[in-house]
Amino acid sequence: AAAVVAGITALALSACGSPAGGGGTGGGEKTTFRLAFNQTEAHPQFKAAEELGKKLEQATDGRYTIEVFANETLGSQNEVVQQVSDGTVDMMYIGGPVMESFNQDFIVFNLPYVFDSPEAQAKVFADEAVMGDLKKSIEGSKKITVLGALHAGVRNVYNAKKPVTSPADLAGMKIRVQQSDSQVKMIQDMGGVASPMGQGDVYSALQTGVLDGAENNETVFNALKHDEVAKYYSYTRHLMIPDYLLMSTEVLNKMDEKDRTALLELIPETIDAANKGFMEFVEESKAASEKTGAKFNDDVDTSAFKAATESLVKASINNPVRQKLYDAVQKANG
Ligand code: GCU
Repeated sequence: AAAVVAGITALALSACGSPAGGGGTGGGEKTTFRLAFNQTEAHPQFKAAEELGKKLEQATDGRYTIEVFANETLGSQNEVVQQVSDGTVDMMYIGGPVMESFNQDFIVFNLPYVFDSPEAQAKVFADEAVMGDLKKSIEGSKKITVLGALHAGVRNVYNAKKPVTSPADLAGMKIRVQQSDSQVKMIQDMGGVASPMGQGDVYSALQTGVLDGAENNETVFNALKHDEVAKYYSYTRHLMIPDYLLMSTEVLNKMDEKDRTALLELIPETIDAANKGFMEFVEESKAASEKTGAKFNDDVDTSAFKAATESLVKASINNPVRQKLYDAVQKANG
């Protein structure tokens, strides 16, 4: 019987398209939330979001499900977040730095060498006493709710020219960073020339030599084929920036309380699944990059990079909200 119900639901969904924004829930209406994603279908966050859609459909007797749009098909993160704000896109995954333009306090988790381990990071993100206010902080101003924070890898520098071992190696190199002041300042302090841009533009900028390099985790390096055009990947381990799962506050509030609760209750296991899949995805990605001839260099003076960026961290923890977040990270680091 379950298969029959699922079949009917699929038919009904494809027949009525994917209305954006949470519609009414009465009269057997079905709502498909559109979730924007800027990476591939192989990514564990994609799989976790698809799974969330299936579970949501079950939990709401078919009233709600989720369609995940991968590969930036709905636009870059900077563009899509505006649509989440006005409710025309329901949900998205977004990198931490983009959030700084809405509330600067998000900066704490985007600073270099802040988290010691993915475990410490997960501990902080699971603690509502620490995260609760931050997650709700742009509901009023932007009508965006942060449903949860996810591990998004450890970021390292890569470039087309040579292995990097110390800050001096980055001199004169144009390195792409995510779009925020903290990321620009960070690469400058690390010795390079910062070039902020959306993820989708990086490949061709590397290919044409507009960029010398970028910084990201192994999964982006491989999945977006950066390993073809910038094959020296060096373990600076400078960042562990989270991704956030966002939802339009209006769309969320339009759901019946029971359905909304069902959705919110599914978030922790969704995040867990995405985080668990991530570690394996990193290993697979690295092996695949090595096959294409990419060179992974672990002979890096990380303490020199850490020392070079310490003043940025200090200067950024400049109010009680950020201090509290930062202290929670220190405590989780142990
Ligand atoms: C990671 C992260 C994305 C982000 C990207 C980037 O892949 O998961 O959310 O967009 O880095 O560097 O832009």
